[in-house]
Amino acid sequence: MANTVLIGAQWGDEGKGKVIDVLSNKVDIVARFQGGNNAGHTVKIGDEKYVLHLVPSGILHKGKKCIIGNGLVVDPIGLLSEMDELKEKGIDCKGRLFISDRATLVCPYHKALDAFRESGRGRKIGTTKRGIGPAYGDKIIRTALRMGDMLDKSFAKELGARIDCANAQLKAGGAQLLNKASIIKEYTKAAKRLAPYITDTITILNNAERKGKSILFEGAQGTMLDIDFGTYPYVTSSNATSGGACTGTGVPPNRIDQVIGVIKCYTTRVGEGPFPTELLDATGEQLRTEGGEFGATTGRPRRCGWFDAVVARYSAMISGVDYWAMTKLDVLDNQKTIKVCVAYQCDGKRLDTIPASSAMLARCKPIYKSIAGWNTSTKEVTRYKDLPPKAKKYVEYLCKITGVKLGILSVGAKRESTLRIAL
Ligand code: GDP
Ligand code: IMO
Ligand code: MG
Repeated sequence: MANTVLIGAQWGDEGKGKVIDVLSNKVDIVARFQGGNNAGHTVKIGDEKYVLHLVPSGILHKGKKCIIGNGLVVDPIGLLSEMDELKEKGIDCKGRLFISDRATLVCPYHKALDAFRESGRGRKIGTTKRGIGPAYGDKIIRTALRMGDMLDKSFAKELGARIDCANAQLKAGGAQLLNKASIIKEYTKAAKRLAPYITDTITILNNAERKGKSILFEGAQGTMLDIDFGTYPYVTSSNATSGGACTGTGVPPNRIDQVIGVIKCYTTRVGEGPFPTELLDATGEQLRTEGGEFGATTGRPRRCGWFDAVVARYSAMISGVDYWAMTKLDVLDNQKTIKVCVAYQCDGKRLDTIPASSAMLARCKPIYKSIAGWNTSTKEVTRYKDLPPKAKKYVEYLCKITGVKLGILSVGAKRESTLRIAL
């Protein structure tokens, strides 16, 4: 397969883990390019369920190399426990996982500050409390430690100075202080364990690419959570759109061949922020129950709503999506009528694009087109032509109004429940 960037086209949890897993056997390397362990990518293989937070989903395919790119923020304790869990299930990361020495280190004070800000008087984002915002904040203001710093003899001293600084802030806010000695001990131990994995992933990726190896760039979160393009400030702190693949790995744009957008046949969102097609009624509850819409990282119930074509078109435009990987069609099997938002009505005007202001987006009312449901199970379907005609009509309508071709259609969580159309 050509070098491919895969992104989430909504508010995350579109089924990226499943699609990455399905595509992994066609590539040599899977490289995550942004985010941290705020992500939860679920892969179901037979009766086994894997939830990956930092390790690329390609790890589940024997022999594939996996990269944690420079664009990530890495919680070393979280990463080690993920690697340990994988090992218990028979998957050894040794020799297969490569962590960028330029990736940003997430420290306990980032998590403490994240939790503190969420509980404070300020604006609540509904974060995963994994320290993502404060860690990216430190990167941007140039006070962060990076994974490569863990290997230097100055690490304990540098970490200690930052803990002192964070404790001064926590003290001023009346929050509980961090135990400096125990953090330094835990982190120096983690540094020893991670040392064999920390390396120059930029050179690994570019050398492999020059030798003709193919790379699948794994995005986390989704367009509407992107720090620049999402529903700011109700977003995460990284570029989840396709541009992030280059800045988050060091592979240049002219080496990228195609972009796949993963998109649910309806919409979900976790955390605070505007969501025009949200259903606060029994239909929303039905989508949540039938779609198993509970956070893979925090277990929070996901907010559910109809497909939003304004969001989809915006995502396709920003990331240059060539193909949709549409997921969870089966979750709509029991709907008599399905609605699709084609535009918004806002302050007396029709809007066809996403406004920059979250306050304005919160005032947007969806303009819906109603489509007849198929009321038949699609869960066992393995060929596109065997889908109920009304289901095909729905999928084809979504492609038409978003102007993107269908690459993959998913009708269930398992590998087998995947209809490969053009990919
Ligand atoms: P990600 O963050 O984009 O990787 O998505 P998550 O793993 O957080 O959430 C997607 C959920 O939907 C997971 O529980 C998947 O196992 C499940 N899933 C993926 N594709 C399908 C599908 O086509 N149908 C159904 N019913 N479940 C799916
Ligand atoms: P995957 O990769 C869904 C949301 C949080 C919150 C906002 C900011 O599984 O699709 P953060 O902890 O990043 O500072 O939280 O972003 N969020 C996600 N929502 N899927 C994710 O990842 C998410 N990662 C972060 O709920 O609203
Ligand atoms: Mg997820």
